[in-house]
Amino acid sequence: MKAVILLRFCSMVLAAQTVNSSSCSASLRSQFRKDCHPEPEASEDICLARSCCWSPSKFPGIPWCFEAIDECSIVAAERIDCHPEPGANEATCKNRGCHWCANENPNVPFCFSISKEESDCTTKFPINKRVDCHPQPGASKEICEAKGCIWCSEMIANVPWCFYLVDGPYGYTLNDQPEKTAQGWRLMLNKHDSISLFGNDISPVAMDIEFHTKNRIRFKVYDPNNKRFEVPLNIDSPPNEAVDPDYDIEFLNSTTLYFRIIRKTTGTILWDTSLGGLIFSNQFLQMKTTVPSTLIYGFGEHEHPSFKHDMNFVKYGMFSRDQSPVAFSNLYGVHPFYMCIENDFNTHGVLLLNSNAQDVTLNPQPSITFRTIGGILDFYVFLGPTPENVVQQYTEAIGRPYLPPYWSLGFHLSRWGYHNMNVLKNTIERLKHYDIPHDVLHGDIDYMERQMDFTYDKINFAGLPEYIEELKKDGIHYVIILDPFLTKDEPRGTYRPFELGQEMGIWINNSDGVTPAVGKGWPPGDSVFPDYTNPTTALWWIQMCMEFKNVLDYDGIWIDMNEPSSSQQSRCAKNNLNNPPYMPDINGRILAEKTLCPDSKTYLGNHYDTHSLFGWSQAISTFYACQNATKKRAFVLSRSTFVGSGQYTGHWLGDNFSRWRDMHMSIIGILEFNLFGIPYVGADICGFNGEPTYELCLRWMQLGAFYPFSRNHNAFGNKEQDPGVFGEKFAAVSRSVLKIRYTLLPYLYTLFYHSHVSGNTVVRGLMHEFTSDPQTHGIDKAFLWGPALMITPVLDEGARSLSVYFPEASWFNLYTGDEIPVSWLKKFVDIPAPLEIIPLFIRGGYILPMQDPARTTALSHQNPFGLVIALDEQEEASGSFFWDDGDSIDSVEKEVYFYAEYKFTDRELKTTIIKHGYIAITDQSYDTIQILGLSEKPTMISVNGKSISSDRIEYHSNGKINLWISEPLSQELTISVS
Ligand code: GLC
Repeated sequence: MKAVILLRFCSMVLAAQTVNSSSCSASLRSQFRKDCHPEPEASEDICLARSCCWSPSKFPGIPWCFEAIDECSIVAAERIDCHPEPGANEATCKNRGCHWCANENPNVPFCFSISKEESDCTTKFPINKRVDCHPQPGASKEICEAKGCIWCSEMIANVPWCFYLVDGPYGYTLNDQPEKTAQGWRLMLNKHDSISLFGNDISPVAMDIEFHTKNRIRFKVYDPNNKRFEVPLNIDSPPNEAVDPDYDIEFLNSTTLYFRIIRKTTGTILWDTSLGGLIFSNQFLQMKTTVPSTLIYGFGEHEHPSFKHDMNFVKYGMFSRDQSPVAFSNLYGVHPFYMCIENDFNTHGVLLLNSNAQDVTLNPQPSITFRTIGGILDFYVFLGPTPENVVQQYTEAIGRPYLPPYWSLGFHLSRWGYHNMNVLKNTIERLKHYDIPHDVLHGDIDYMERQMDFTYDKINFAGLPEYIEELKKDGIHYVIILDPFLTKDEPRGTYRPFELGQEMGIWINNSDGVTPAVGKGWPPGDSVFPDYTNPTTALWWIQMCMEFKNVLDYDGIWIDMNEPSSSQQSRCAKNNLNNPPYMPDINGRILAEKTLCPDSKTYLGNHYDTHSLFGWSQAISTFYACQNATKKRAFVLSRSTFVGSGQYTGHWLGDNFSRWRDMHMSIIGILEFNLFGIPYVGADICGFNGEPTYELCLRWMQLGAFYPFSRNHNAFGNKEQDPGVFGEKFAAVSRSVLKIRYTLLPYLYTLFYHSHVSGNTVVRGLMHEFTSDPQTHGIDKAFLWGPALMITPVLDEGARSLSVYFPEASWFNLYTGDEIPVSWLKKFVDIPAPLEIIPLFIRGGYILPMQDPARTTALSHQNPFGLVIALDEQEEASGSFFWDDGDSIDSVEKEVYFYAEYKFTDRELKTTIIKHGYIAITDQSYDTIQILGLSEKPTMISVNGKSISSDRIEYHSNGKINLWISEPLSQELTISVS
């Protein structure tokens, strides 16, 4: 059946939503904040040390550090009834912006205001219907009313005081009946002339609704008469509408037109926007929608305290920026994508495909307001219904993640400031001395001569090319950093990368379109910036990378500072691009801060539009440059990313700090980048800025051993923090945890295969697998590798145990094979975690491929394999295994790989070989099989029909069984347990 269009004339009834009220919430009104730090210079640390709440507010006069006064302490005489009609509950009450405190006396209002002014505002103008009419700072009653908007200066933190109402005669109205198109519907909309926020409103605008696939719908609002900037990402737009999609759409005409997207199976309204709230002007585009729950995840790149977003009017700016992680600030990449778990646990995702500076505001009603200062409003909704389905559908649209080379799953070591060859060699040697697994060495900018790309320092790093060859013989790969700025001030004829680029005309230019835009990077003098949106730039970059491969025999490329970053504040002309009328909530509130002027010109348009695409476009060129230079599978690591970057690059979370809280933040970042389709992600282990203590670094080595991208990296001037520098004990713990990682690499690699082929996440939150268990929704200190391995790191100083939540499943301690007792399920349980241990649990129902570890993957790749068969309640399990040579280009696409599936049922394991395209697998074998969770001790075990002798079987008292076998991997394996 086709999606249903209904044109109804009725008033809108808003569904009641539960609002989580936490006493420290950002939306707590000032009356309920007792100042806890009246003297100047309050900070979060001091505030928390006083056991007070810390919640910064953008409004003047509201204490940031406060003791929360209980709403219930307001006596009856001071309560003005806010919900005189029957049917009040906490959600309907809070939606009105009123206070809620239930009590026994029915004559005392439960839902109340505490001042006449507050009462008038909240009853007349419910918060969920307000559209901010003055989103920029500096609102006043006069300015507000002069615009024709309503002013209500009540003291609810972060709620607009100057607003108009979504269902009033504002925004856009339909100028005709919707028109049927091959892909869906087209609406032509006319601007209502009542209010204009920033002028230059566009009218008419068109809204195309396209039914792309069964579970993907797109709607796009654009100017039908003038082409505006659109993100150059080729999302497949099928010529005809999808048959029998999982969604309906609905138009509801009351005082204004509402557009809704509805999940057919449940009737849940996923998207509900009033075109009365729509603004489409030249440099300010806004859409507000109600969302079905407050369980919202995603939006990036930001640091924020919990994976599940706080919906209390939290605003996130998005504009790529060289910014070390600071809570709520816009950071290196841009991902306007969120995932929402609906109240019945179905899940959907939404992308706003727009690269302009923008912000989103999360409102507790719940709703989301999107604001951007250019391009078009191009939304994609993915219906899931599971979180994994959402990410699969999202990456189907934006591009599946690349398959990383196997060696890049090993441990990486890096630092900025090795200073010279001796320090470098000593560092590598001590890892070797302690037998700490180590696969990759990174060369940061100090390998370069005066920080210039495509050079190396022949004085301090004399002999580096030879050393790289030595490392290679030892199985260690070398990754070079490249920055996006090239000095233009070297003597003529001495710096070919600049001169060739100049000749080819590939720089970002000033607003005149011809003179190169100049900024300042690491190298001496002023720098120019390659414009990677220009196809000629890719030719130049590939050429340079290939030439440099003859100088330093690198294996991968790390692209940094590509927001793009310029340390010198650009002096920009005063014009509407450099000074747009609305400034999204970005750090510094200046678009040119730390970068080039927005009116600079790139091949695809103004830097104003393409700024946040710099890292994305550079990653594409670098992917091909690396492939061409190495003739192997590319390894690219990019600091700045955008929607779709995961097809070409991995990411690290930037310049974090050596602090305990940063470990927790790194888990949230990694979970988010898995939602964004960039599963190859990690944070600098032991922290980049600052110096870690022994214990912090040790705990971080344990956590980092489970980052998909596992690299210890350090900033210039800090003490050494590699795992070999803290002595024998530290080295032993690092060695043992990295050996666990290396043992599990076949499982991790198989997860990356599934990510590449089907778009699955590699690291996922517990809520992905146990979505219907509300306890998991807020868990972000534990995480999973795929469905089957739970990692529960210690994140607190001095802790020797931690509280672990076990969702309903069978779980086995990875170290002992002990099964977690049923009485622990669906509970938080204290688990011992001595300094040497990171608690790890395998989930029953899964079979994990493993391999004997070694100091490098070059060595371990040849080792025998094993399987861990962890059984569920029904004594069943399944799993899969992907294998290839680890570094050839497109081995999946060229079908030169091996892929097998395992199934354990009725006390028998069977493998099915699905793909037998990797010939060298014939030399490899299984040697250990571990079975967990078998209820009855077997009397006989046979492998491929032959019973195995008792000296090859080890029964443990906890039920764990170890078998030693020697069977070829290339043949199907049957193990029967009778
Ligand atoms: C940036 C990078 C950091 C690197 C440094 C020097 O700060 O984020 O990782 O070490 O530049 O290249």
